[in-house]
This record gives sequence, structure tokens and C-alpha cells, in this order.
Amino acid sequence: MSHFVYVNGKLHVEQVPLDRIAAEFGTPVYVYSSASLTENFLAYANACRQHGRGDQGALVCYSVKSNSNLAVLSLLGRLGSGFDIVSGGELERVIAAGGNTRKVIFSGVGKTREEMRFALSEDILCFNVESIPELHRLNEVAGSGGKRARVSLRVNPDVDPKTHPYISTGLKENKFGIAFEDALATYRVAGSLPHLDVTGIDCHIGSQLLDDAPLLEALDKVIELADQLQDAGIDLHHLDIGGGIGITYDDEKPVAVADYLSRLFARIDRWRAERHGGRPMTIMFEPGRSIVGNAGVLVTEVHYLKHGSSKNFAVVDAAMNDLMRPAMYEAWHGVLPLSEPRSPARVYDIVGPVCESGDWLARERSLAVAPGDLLAIMSAGAYGMTMASNYNTRGRAAEVLVEGDQFRLIRRREKPSDLFALENI
Ligand code: LLP
Repeated sequence: MSHFVYVNGKLHVEQVPLDRIAAEFGTPVYVYSSASLTENFLAYANACRQHGRGDQGALVCYSVKSNSNLAVLSLLGRLGSGFDIVSGGELERVIAAGGNTRKVIFSGVGKTREEMRFALSEDILCFNVESIPELHRLNEVAGSGGKRARVSLRVNPDVDPKTHPYISTGLKENKFGIAFEDALATYRVAGSLPHLDVTGIDCHIGSQLLDDAPLLEALDKVIELADQLQDAGIDLHHLDIGGGIGITYDDEKPVAVADYLSRLFARIDRWRAERHGGRPMTIMFEPGRSIVGNAGVLVTEVHYLKHGSSKNFAVVDAAMNDLMRPAMYEAWHGVLPLSEPRSPARVYDIVGPVCESGDWLARERSLAVAPGDLLAIMSAGAYGMTMASNYNTRGRAAEVLVEGDQFRLIRRREKPSDLFALENI
């Protein structure tokens, strides 16, 4: 169910008209729906429960990089979510949001010693390790602190996720994971290191996947490897299949989370029964976009209209620094007026004030707009604010969370003085 709908001609988030939020907090402003976040998280959690995987049998680790606002993390943490992090900074956020560090998994190809020490001191659930040098470093850091580190190896199953090349991660040519053919030897190295406990296997093949076939293909390869590992005497406790399920930006029809999970659990249950006498294994997920992507919009005001001979531009107060996805991936985001339009439409490129031709948010959209009108850039909850920058000394947008007929500021707009507060002359 969409929580972004027109009521009496005004675009609402749950029961709050978006123009009220813009009037109170200004623009550009990111607005998130807690009902939508909750539903999207529960799509995973409930499907796990329906397939007999309670708290021990499955863990959904929300991918913090997709939207790391403390209020979002706190809401998901209270629903029982774990967290997939890629930096010490993200771990600090999880802690500040009251998240359970025993449900944190640490992914990423370049963990520093400092980050490892910090994560070990917080007793996180698992490090997803991506190379042999990383295994050695983690072993050394754990040993010098008198600790043991739980590790999973991220294997690269060489499966084509059929998505944008910048967000595909599970092909041989990508920098991620351990090559499938090297996995067994790498597990042997991990098993020989005294300060590591090998607990799992993981993979993540890409993002914005519409079809679950590549994910199930990756699962099959991971299962094949888990069997080889078992034959070699290496017993795993968890299998983490990553994130990657896509959302509708335009007219895409992504697989429903419940359908994907039922195919996945059917496959896993069959395998466990055949090979392992039904012994349990925790199944983990790392979804980001499918939880938060369609739970957020970016609201912006039209400042100028420029009508030209070959193109019309609507210059708005949000820019590529606020929402990088169009400039970076030519990503398509819907654009809706906050008030249902009355006048006839014209075709516009929606552009920001940043001094780059690449600074556009949407192209060739038919809109009836006038200066002062407000627009919502849709599906901006994931990889929106987290990828925002201060280019052109633009403070990052405010963020607001809606809950029913209530809303609250969850991050204030940055002021220029915030941006140079760390600088010296
Ligand atoms: N786990 C790992 C190891 C990842 O690298 C990612 C995303 C996720 C989980 C979450 O994937 P999701 O469920 O959100 O697809 N900035 C790009 C997306 C980059 C995704 C990076 N990795 C975009 O705006 O489309």
C-alpha cells in the first residue's frame, strides 16, 4: 500500500499534507513514512516467520548505507532488525540509535585496524571478510586484543544480476568478494587462524534486482560451496544471501519480497533436509533499498522557469548534491506536484542550482508548474540523503519522519557555518 497519495488534491504522506511540512521546515526536505518503513521491513520478517524461521532461524540486517538517519535506524531496530554496516561510522550510528550490536554484520572490502578494534569491542555478530589479507589483519587485531572474531567469507558467485553496471557486485570483474574457485582454500586459511571463528558464508550480487532468478542462482552456488566445505570438515552456522531486491521507480515490476523468500526457503529447506538431516542454519539478509527506497521523497520548490527554443527548464532548490542518483546513474525518479495541477502542462527538465550540466533530477517531464510550486521527487528514501554532499557549499537538506498524522524533524538543515566549522585559516 502506498503511503504517498493525493487527498483533496494535495499530496500526503500518511495523513500529513506534504506542503505543511515544507511550510514548517523549508525545502529541500526529505520526508519519510514510518508506516511504509515498517511494512517494508515486516515483509521480510513476516515471510521469515511464516517459513518457520523465528528469531534464531533468520536475521534481517538492514543495510545502513541506504539511509542511515538515527530515527530510521531506531525504528527498524525496535522492529527487531539487525544492521549491515560498512564502516566504523555506521557502527557508531547504530549504537547512537540504540541498535543491538550483537545483530551487526560488518561488510566492505577495506576495513581498517581501528574499525576492526572498535567492532570487536562492541562484540558484533560477524565480519564479512572479502580477502586473505583481511583475514590475517583481523586475526592479528583480534589476537592483540585478546578476542576472537566471528567471520563469514563473502564469496563472489560470478552471477550476472542484470542491473546497472555501477551497482552490480557479484561478477568476476567486480572488486567484491573471494573468487568462487578460491573459496575453499580461503576457508582453510580462515580455519587455521587462531583468533578467528568461521561461522558463515555470504554473498551480495548487486542492487535494484527486479527478478529473483539471479539471487536464487547465487544461492545455489553458495549451497554447492557450503556442501564442499562440509565435506572438508568446515561447518557453517549461517548463510547470508545479501540484499538487492529492487523497487518501482517508474513502471518496473520487482519480485515481491514474500515470493522471493518463499522460493528461497523452499530451496534451503530441501537442501537442509537432504544433506543435513534438517539441522538448522540461520539465514540472513542485507536489504536496503527495498525497505527504505519507496518510503521517502525529496520535496523541492520551483524557483525559475526557463522556456527555450529546444528545451524548457524548471530550476528547483534541490540539486545533484541532495540526490546524486540521476547525475551518477542516469536514474529515473518520479516527479509529482504537491498540489494536483490545474493549468496545462509543458515538458521540462527539472534541474538544480549547482554549476554542472549534470545537475538534473529528472528529464523531459510533462508538468504544469509555476515558480513557487512544490514538487516531490519520488522513491528517494534509499541512497538519497546518504549520498548527499556539500558541493557548492550547499547545506544538506532537512529530514522529517511522518507517523500517522504526526511529523517530526529528524535532522535539521545544515547551515553554511556547519560546513566550515572544522576549517582553519
Ligand atoms: N549488502 C552489501 C554488501 C551491499 O553492497 C549492498 C549495497 C547492500 C547489502 C544493500 O543492497 P540493496 O538491498 O539496497 O540493493 N548507490 C546505489 C546503490 C549501491 C548499492 C551498494 N551496495 C544506488 O543509488 O542505486
